[in-house]
Amino acid sequence: MTSDIEARGTRMAQIWIKLAVLYLLAGVIFGLVMASNHHFEFAPVHAHINLLGWASMALAGLIYHQFPRAGGSRLGLWHFWLHNLALPVAMVGLFFMLAGHPQLEKLVAAASAVIVLGVLLFAINLFVNMRPHG
Ligand code: HEM
Ligand code: HEM
Repeated sequence: MTSDIEARGTRMAQIWIKLAVLYLLAGVIFGLVMASNHHFEFAPVHAHINLLGWASMALAGLIYHQFPRAGGSRLGLWHFWLHNLALPVAMVGLFFMLAGHPQLEKLVAAASAVIVLGVLLFAINLFVNMRPHG
């Protein structure tokens, strides 16, 4: 029998993956525009849209799909909100920082620290809530 937490985990997994593929789309478009305009100074933004947005989020979604009890747990929800609120702030902040606004470094650092906190909760979540069948 599927518990409410597991059902929520399965729904959350789909949201993780759908958001991830939007980051992939944004990341490859960003890469193409960056390459066409020879603005390689923005490579870290492109790299992390793809790696923290697409790769990390799609992996989280696939893992939470396989283990929905982890995906639908409170830790899973905290992971979701910390990652998904902080990542856009970090990427937009980094973009403008590299575009000549060094004062944004603190914002980027703070948003990055929130992402790291989310990843810490992800790790704890998998150790606490991952079971062979959900
Ligand atoms: C059509 C799609 C893509 C285009 C046009 C593109 C373009 C680029 C360009 C122009 C650079 C800068 C290279 C340099 O500065 O020498 C770059 C770097 C990078 N790209 Fe992409 N990229 C694409 C897709 C991806 C994807 C899907 C990922 C990851 C999943 C990715 C990850 C990276 C990383 C990590 C770097 C930094 C590499 C380094 O600093 O050595 N890219 N990309
Ligand atoms: C909040 C988390 C993260 C922070 C704060 C962070 C920070 C950084 C910084 C400061 C650099 C050097 C950029 C430069 O050369 O100017 C870098 C490079 C890189 N990071 Fe991350 N990173 C994070 C997460 C990740 C993850 C999850 C991956 C892979 C899945 C990754 C892969 C890379 C790669 C491939 C490079 C070299 C490409 C580049 O120069 O942009 N990072 N990262």
